[in-house]
Amino acid sequence: MALDTPGAALTPAISFRHVSKVFGGVHALDDVDFEVMPGEVHCLAGENGCGKSTLIKIITGVYTPELGVEMAFFGRRVASVTPNIARQNGIAVIWQDLALFPEMSVAENIAFETLLGNLPRLVSYRSLRARSAAILETLGEDIDLDARLNTLPIAQRQIVAIARALISDAKLIFMDEPTASLTQSETDSLLGVVRKLAARGVSVVFVSHRLAEVLDIADRVTVLRDGKLVGVFEAEGMTQSRLTELMTGKTFGAEVAARDMTGAPAVLEVEGLSRHGEFEDVSLTVHKGEVVGLTGLIGAGRSELGHALFGMTRPDTGAIRLLGRALHLRSNRDAVAEGIAYVSEDRLSLGLVQPQAIADNIVLPILSRISRRTGLISPTEKAGRVEHWLRELSIKAGQPGDPVSTLSGGNQQRVVLAKWLATNPRVLILDSPTVGVDVGARAGIFRIIRVLAEKGLAILMISDEVPEVYFNADRVLHMAGGRIRGEYDPRKVTLKELEAAVYG
Ligand SMILES: Nc1ncnc2c1ncn2[C@@H]1O[C@H](COP(=O)(O)OP(=O)(O)OP(=O)(O)O)[C@@H](O)[C@H]1O
Ligand SMILES: [Mg+2]
Repeated sequence: MALDTPGAALTPAISFRHVSKVFGGVHALDDVDFEVMPGEVHCLAGENGCGKSTLIKIITGVYTPELGVEMAFFGRRVASVTPNIARQNGIAVIWQDLALFPEMSVAENIAFETLLGNLPRLVSYRSLRARSAAILETLGEDIDLDARLNTLPIAQRQIVAIARALISDAKLIFMDEPTASLTQSETDSLLGVVRKLAARGVSVVFVSHRLAEVLDIADRVTVLRDGKLVGVFEAEGMTQSRLTELMTGKTFGAEVAARDMTGAPAVLEVEGLSRHGEFEDVSLTVHKGEVVGLTGLIGAGRSELGHALFGMTRPDTGAIRLLGRALHLRSNRDAVAEGIAYVSEDRLSLGLVQPQAIADNIVLPILSRISRRTGLISPTEKAGRVEHWLRELSIKAGQPGDPVSTLSGGNQQRVVLAKWLATNPRVLILDSPTVGVDVGARAGIFRIIRVLAEKGLAILMISDEVPEVYFNADRVLHMAGGRIRGEYDPRKVTLKELEAAVYG
């Protein structure tokens, strides 16, 4: 970064003061100040719906703030911000859907905006190609410039989006939950890229609900709660539990919840299940009222196993039994009919109908059950169910009739859970149930999982976060290379021992 005047480093990259935003009477943001220094990694932290994404959208010109705001980029005051003004001031965003072109090559994606002429100089495609290559190299990423984007994993597409920001000289990059759909090793490499950006003087504003990650990468953390600024804190010396307190205004203790349920009747039994290239010879049992945690690293085959148990793929060999009866699942419809519910890990394709009402999304799978014989849905029944789940999962919503798209990411996640829990299943398969969900709500979701287990539901909980299964499962299975490698009783091992077994 060029510091052309003495003391320039003291000028914030962005300085926004008195930021407020009201949506239909709700204060999404209430007089918030936010400042990021050049070359700083600054995390925005807070529970679902506290206003993080809204703040990002205001600074990048997507939303207009309420009157009274003061805004400056690199010391220059601006009266209003549009996406173009933000871009011209060196502000870039890596949106969660990345806004890339799947059919185009890596090079074309990186150069796209520059080619469109957002920059005042004339550039040739050849020189852009060379610069793209140079940028990828400084990021330490080896990505084929000619590869079609849709052939790359999400993690590499993110790098392409970052490179695109850099080629148009971004000085500050917003990343809103970039790691939500990444594995641990992909996350580690993204954090490496963030460090390289900071070392080059580029500021990064980073949002994540994984507090370990936040404290690892951040220089400073701005904490929001209910749309208000709690404070700005140095990451150094901050602990996860202190940060949690600041975010929630409450304290949480972690205790192992495990009980021995192996004496209860077997509900879901898997025996010698294999699917070529995905998992091999997997045997496991989930008992009535039991929460079995399934953890492991990238490529362990956990999610693939989950897909097969939900009838989305067919195993080559082996058996799946429900209450002693062999199941031959040909589709997920079969699985639902058998009383198997499945919450997928992929948040962006959760199967929520975005423009439809929150209430409609929750009752979608149970429509036939709450319909009257005439085929009409009883409005009282529907309202009752919806009310119940909104309260049960503390979903922060305006009206049940509002579109799902108006909810914050984490609250959408809760609607998905509600939707499945409302089917009253016998077996619940949860793949990474808390991805993108804040720490307070995680506790809420685990409390619900516990209550469901106590009511007799058999639960298979897949997660790559070892502490999550350690504290919340009755038994933990470790999967690696497509096979079950070990079984652990959380009451008999420490978290450190389990982590050592999984991370090797
Ligand atoms: N377009 C919109 N219309 C109406 N309300 C909205 C809109 N966008 C956000 N909100 C509301 O503003 C509040 C803040 O939402 P925001 O998306 O900023 O939360 P967040 O901190 O990013 O949460 P998460 O961690 O769940 O992503 C929420 O109550 C949300 O419902
Ligand atoms: Mg958000």
